[in-house]
Amino acid sequence: MSTIESILTENRIFKPSQNFTEQANLSEWQEYKKLLTEADSDYEGFWARMATENIDWNKPFSKILNSDNPPFFRWFEDGELNVSWNCLDRHLTTQPNKVAIIFESDDGNVTRITYKQLYHRVCQLSNGLSKELKILPGDRVIIYMPMSIEAVVAMQACARIGATHSVVFGGFSAKSLQDRIIDAGANCVITADGGIRNGKEVFLKNTVDEALGSGGCECVKHVVVYQRTKSTINMDTKKDIWMHDLVQNQPDVSNPVWVSSEHPLFILYTSGSTGKPKGVQHSSGGYLLQAQLTMKWSFDYKQKDIFWCTADVGWVTGHTYIAYGPLAVGATQVIFEGVPTYPDANRFWQMIANHSVTVFYTAPTAIRSLIKLGKDLPKQHNLTSLRLLGSVGEPINPEAWVWYHSTVGSGKCPIVDTWWQTETGGHMITPLPGITPLKPGSCTLPLPGIVADVVDESGESVEKGKGGILVIKKPWPSMIRNIWGDPERFKKTYFPDDFDGKYYLAGDGANRDADGYYWIMGRIDDVLVVSGHNLGTMEIESALVAHPLVAEAAVVGKPDNVKGETIVAFVVLQGDLPIGDESDQTAQILRNWVTKQIGPVAKPEEIRFGDNLPKTRSGKIMRRLLRSIAKDEEITQDTSTLENPSILEQLKKVR
Ligand code: WT7
Repeated sequence: MSTIESILTENRIFKPSQNFTEQANLSEWQEYKKLLTEADSDYEGFWARMATENIDWNKPFSKILNSDNPPFFRWFEDGELNVSWNCLDRHLTTQPNKVAIIFESDDGNVTRITYKQLYHRVCQLSNGLSKELKILPGDRVIIYMPMSIEAVVAMQACARIGATHSVVFGGFSAKSLQDRIIDAGANCVITADGGIRNGKEVFLKNTVDEALGSGGCECVKHVVVYQRTKSTINMDTKKDIWMHDLVQNQPDVSNPVWVSSEHPLFILYTSGSTGKPKGVQHSSGGYLLQAQLTMKWSFDYKQKDIFWCTADVGWVTGHTYIAYGPLAVGATQVIFEGVPTYPDANRFWQMIANHSVTVFYTAPTAIRSLIKLGKDLPKQHNLTSLRLLGSVGEPINPEAWVWYHSTVGSGKCPIVDTWWQTETGGHMITPLPGITPLKPGSCTLPLPGIVADVVDESGESVEKGKGGILVIKKPWPSMIRNIWGDPERFKKTYFPDDFDGKYYLAGDGANRDADGYYWIMGRIDDVLVVSGHNLGTMEIESALVAHPLVAEAAVVGKPDNVKGETIVAFVVLQGDLPIGDESDQTAQILRNWVTKQIGPVAKPEEIRFGDNLPKTRSGKIMRRLLRSIAKDEEITQDTSTLENPSILEQLKKVR
């Protein structure tokens, strides 16, 4: 595969409105150019200036970037800071009584907590962890919690005492939890009795017990339990302690532990497409810097904003844009325990109206399912508080983008389609909402200081208009530092020899158009090879989603003697599943539609309908499972990270 062909043309352009531009943090093309030029002429100087202006250092750094041992880059390494200090203490004099978190539980209860209150809560827990349980800087603490104020308190408390946290998504099984505990060598787990999602309890403590009981987890000495649901759980007097008991007699102030900029703030496991989960290790200073900068640049953060990122703290989005970024800039943010569809598909819109949310950040998978469940529902709510929308996690299909823009944003909110990864720590390729003209489906241009490129297999830049492999050519402050305990795998995965170990390999295919805009075409592993053409998944799926009958689509290749691969599409319709002849007719309509939209090369050979698609817990379509189904193969791969395993049976049967 030398290049990937781009076959879909999207011509719509949405310029930022004058109203938005006038108030934006970055509002002129000149300003953007100036930053780019600065970063271009003095890369390290640029980042040093950002780090000095944005972060409060206990001890300033004198070294900027250490590249002595690539790809183990170090940023601001002799600088000392505390991330929690930067998120809490520094706001205490300026805005102690500003609401930091508006928490809404699954059943609609709302709790507010100010910066001062949050600070005291974090101090108490950090005192409990360090003084009572003797957790030391550098110890690993697993956090397995429901979406809650306490989850953020737990993360911040770890940061405060220099313990490295590893949040495990509350939907993961005992086995996944056990694997992560062992890999991280954690000595403490912070959990809850349970959490409530969709009106039902998720039993977390029981799962922790099961994980710890299955062997290999002897490293865990303490389990701290936040009481959320008051369900009966087993408390082992030797190990388990209620969070409220642990903090009860602790002072509500504490000195933060100053750590090196390179100190590992957290490890976050990402499953990737193969095998063993990778413990993505992040730093403190560089990570915090980009979390904070992107709040200002991408989200145009303002003091009066009510920010809502709908991600779970179990994903990197919930780290950077819930636990750290919003607090670092002193924002008021909404945190939600539940799911978008409970009690019904009005929930998000209702919450935006109730809390006067101004900046709303969610995932394409949520947008597409909310379109299917009620395209016109947003119109029944007062969404006028919104001024900016964001999207993350997957390419957003132009049709979903346009709906989001017109129906949710009333045509007046810019959409920041933010391309980044667990490994990048923060946004990388993303519009500046006051400046960048938007094209639906494109994440537009790299942020200042981010040196991205699209290259072919030999590492040569491909010309504009051609697709290829997305790489980042220079280290950036919030980049992954290592795969926990596996430096060799880190090198091989992200700085492969193919590019002389020089470029960071993102694993995505991308195309750059004549204006230099980036269009993510899907994972390189998912590229289809049809009659000698390399096709990304994104464009064919977007063409399908553009048909009024279609809600969601995923395409995969099926080996074919003549063509190399033929295209099999899995489609979720806006309406009910088609039956009998109706199914063949609809498939024919859609095949013709794709041929007309893109060309015969992209025409799906086969279309299967389902009520849903197999997705990861973070909402990504698992195309490798669909490839097995398309081949009528038994699924032997790990399906434990699947949100909805039963869908596999349906997709196997339904034609
Ligand atoms: C992968 C990273 C980024 C935090 C949440 C997911 C895909 C993410 C976009 C976007 C197109 C995107 C990429 C990337 N992706 N954002 N705006 N447009 N694709 O983090 O689980 O590490 O996934 O998600 O394929 O490589 P993650």
